[in-house]
Amino acid sequence: MIVWKDLLQPITVKVHHRSTLREVMQTIHTTQSELVLVYAAQKVVGYLNTKCVMQFILAKNDLDQPIPFYYTDVLLVREDQPVEFYHNVSVVLGVNQANKVTGFCSLADARNQITRLQLKEKTQIFNSAHIGVITTNEQFRITFINGTAENILGLSRNFLLHRNYKTLLNAPQLEDVLLGKQLVSVSHSLNFKQIIGNFSPLFNEGKILGIIHIFYLREQLEESIQELEWVRNLNEDLKALYSSSNEEIIVLNGEGKIVRLAGNFLKDFWGVEHPDELIGKNLFDMHREGLYQYDLFERAHKKKGKFVFVHENKKGCKVWSSATPVFYQDKLEKIVMISRDITEINQLREELKIERKRSDQYKQELDQMMMRNQVDKKLIYRSKVMEDVVDQIKRIAMVDSTVLLYGESGVGKEVFAQTIHQNSRRKEHPLVRVNCGAIPESLIESEFFGYVKGAFTGADQNGRAGFFEQAHQGTIFLDEITELPLNLQVKLLRVLQEKEVMRIGDTKSIKVDVRVIAATNRNIKRLVEENKFREDLYYRLNVIPVHIPPLRERTGDVMMLSLFFLEQFNRLYQLDKKLSQDAFDVLESYHWPGNVRELQNMIERLVVTSRGQTITGEEVMSILFGESKSKVVKPILGSIMPLQEAVDDLESQLIRAALQKYGTAAKAAKVLQVSPATMSRKINRLLR
Ligand SMILES: Nc1ncnc2c1ncn2[C@@H]1O[C@H](COP(=O)(O)OP(=O)(O)OP(=O)(O)O)[C@@H](O)[C@H]1O
Ligand SMILES: [Mg+2]
Repeated sequence: MIVWKDLLQPITVKVHHRSTLREVMQTIHTTQSELVLVYAAQKVVGYLNTKCVMQFILAKNDLDQPIPFYYTDVLLVREDQPVEFYHNVSVVLGVNQANKVTGFCSLADARNQITRLQLKEKTQIFNSAHIGVITTNEQFRITFINGTAENILGLSRNFLLHRNYKTLLNAPQLEDVLLGKQLVSVSHSLNFKQIIGNFSPLFNEGKILGIIHIFYLREQLEESIQELEWVRNLNEDLKALYSSSNEEIIVLNGEGKIVRLAGNFLKDFWGVEHPDELIGKNLFDMHREGLYQYDLFERAHKKKGKFVFVHENKKGCKVWSSATPVFYQDKLEKIVMISRDITEINQLREELKIERKRSDQYKQELDQMMMRNQVDKKLIYRSKVMEDVVDQIKRIAMVDSTVLLYGESGVGKEVFAQTIHQNSRRKEHPLVRVNCGAIPESLIESEFFGYVKGAFTGADQNGRAGFFEQAHQGTIFLDEITELPLNLQVKLLRVLQEKEVMRIGDTKSIKVDVRVIAATNRNIKRLVEENKFREDLYYRLNVIPVHIPPLRERTGDVMMLSLFFLEQFNRLYQLDKKLSQDAFDVLESYHWPGNVRELQNMIERLVVTSRGQTITGEEVMSILFGESKSKVVKPILGSIMPLQEAVDDLESQLIRAALQKYGTAAKAAKVLQVSPATMSRKINRLLR
């Protein structure tokens, strides 16, 4: 804004109102001034200019007479007031706050000065805008060029002014602009500079006076476009990043209104279907109305920095949030809130707690078992089936009846035989184990029944008691009974019936009080049918048959047994290994063809070979499945094979791949979309 003070000139030229015309002319002549102020009684009363003096002379006024008149259209103005053009006033006198005249200005002069100042200002605007501006007249002669245009083109104003712009640019289409057309985004080359811009007609009072060209350096524009593109890409990336975030991102403005929402929308927490329903809602109002629990604003103002909190809605949906308030000049401008649903995490934590409790329980049970009397020391079980078997065994132990234990290899027949013995009234007497399959046939008889002094060469000088004599008052455990040769079976039958033995080479029998427990892992009944085992002996032994179920039929025992063996081997190898939940899962899903013995060996191997402190599911997998004997056969395209075989091959590959990748049978089942039971069945078949 221009004020009078900017335009006022100091009052240096003044005459008295009674001065003669000559004196006035002399003053004008010596000061070379166009205008003289007229004073009377120390005050400006008017002014005279050269034009007026000329008139006096022409009117033949006497030069030595006082001036006939002077102009009085003078106005006093406050020097700090904006310039204004008053009607009927030619000269203004500026006064300061003390009402003292500080200068003067003719309005004609003021007009010129203001036009000059405005022009200067416009040129400055044009120059500081980083765009080139060139104007021409109707003949395409350049009339104006701003500093940026000079810089862009590398040509000086002096060179360009008044030149024909149409010729310089070689742009015949400029004719159209003079007809009122606008040319947009046109490229030209001048002084080897590529420029791009718009040509518009230059209007004045509805008439086209020339052309205005507004332009950029082309490469600069391209750079800007690229930058814009880069920012746009970045924006897209950020959007994608936000929307793929596991967290919910909410931006609130300073008043608490939700302005943006991205990422994982927590619809259960907000209780609305779509994020759009939240946009525009005011969290602070919601808090005031009791709809939103947390007073975000109070905390933001108090804390002034990032803070975290957990809030819960009425339905018990729990959310963890981290809020970052943004302040600008002490005023809260926005809050960025990142939230995550922790309801599930809490649930998981609870489940984990229960799981931990359960495994602690197992451990306690195990400890109790170990601490109980010697009998149970080695017999570990937890399943209902085994509980029943053990009950039965304990009852059987009380009587002297012959027991036939049968079950697959490794199920624990020997352990049961020991249990029976330990629970019987014979426990203070010997338990003699005889492995019928391990004694050379020629020695069986002497081993079983003993011999007398000098019975045969090479034998013990003093003779020797056989297993039955050794087991007197105790128990004899005839393991792998089916391996006993048929002729020995007859002799055994007699001992069982008569309860006496005769040593080889002796003539009299010795009474023996022995309880017999036999065991086999073979189908003894079939052997009888095939005449490989004597029927009469079978019936003699099979007084109380006890079937020990295979481990796969009592997976409930796997965990207890694993923990038991883990302790055993940790102690043996002085280690402190643990089994992960995953490892347990894998162990439980396996079908254990070698039963408890296989599990025992497996745990020993894991304890010794596992890398870390905790045995992982993967480690169990790699031992169980990695070394499976059954080979992977790829279905060969092109060759014809039975459809079922091809389907089975493919299935086996899929299952193996899933097991390798996901570690547990349960996870593999999920991925292959079959039930865990189906999966376990298929794995078992695969390993067979
Ligand atoms: N319930 C159990 N608790 C603790 N250890 C067990 C249990 N069952 C079996 N074992 C252990 O597993 C291994 C194999 O058991 P055992 O020798 O009794 O099997 P088995 O049925 O006699 O097998 P086989 O028919 O091959 O002789 C043994 O080391 C035994 O201590
Ligand atoms: Mg055995």
